[in-house]
Amino acid sequence: MAHDFNGKVVIITGSSSGIGQAAAILFAKLGASVTIHGRSENGLKKTEDLIFEAGISKERIHSVRGAVTDSEVQKALINETIKTFGRIDILINNAGGVKDDEKNQRSMAALDYCLDVNLKA
Ligand SMILES: NC(=O)c1ccc[n+]([C@@H]2O[C@H](COP(=O)([O-])OP(=O)(O)OC[C@H]3O[C@@H](n4cnc5c(N)ncnc54)[C@H](OP(=O)(O)O)[C@@H]3O)[C@@H](O)[C@H]2O)c1
Repeated sequence: MAHDFNGKVVIITGSSSGIGQAAAILFAKLGASVTIHGRSENGLKKTEDLIFEAGISKERIHSVRGAVTDSEVQKALINETIKTFGRIDILINNAGGVKDDEKNQRSMAALDYCLDVNLKA
């Protein structure tokens, strides 16, 4: 099944590793301009490198770094994408996970983190 995303603009939160990274590479290969996002500078660089290795030009990739729960980062994702690519067609709200520094994953702190990152953001 062939998909053509030429001219489409996609934001993928949490694309510095894993599923989001794979999605960012795939959307870029299928013609989309992509805003990638995550907290890890190294992870974002890895995603960019993999996209460039696939022959995609720098002009089709924009990177936003920071916690997805931070309203300034949320605004940057939207505003910088529109400024760079002129529009937004698709948002993949992929960033997520558990509170790594919490021993008791059944604590209220772990639940709050989960809701903040996976639901509210
Ligand atoms: N893999 C599975 O079996 C599975 C199953 C069910 C649901 N999911 C969900 O699918 C999504 C992707 O999973 P994955 O396996 O690809 O996970 P992953 O490899 O851990 O990737 C998670 C991505 O989200 C980003 N992220 C996590 N917390 C963040 C935060 N607070 N602020 C900003 N970015 C944040 C990470 O970036 P940084 O580390 O750079 O911040 C990373 O790019 C997640 O939402 C996960 O919960 C996965």
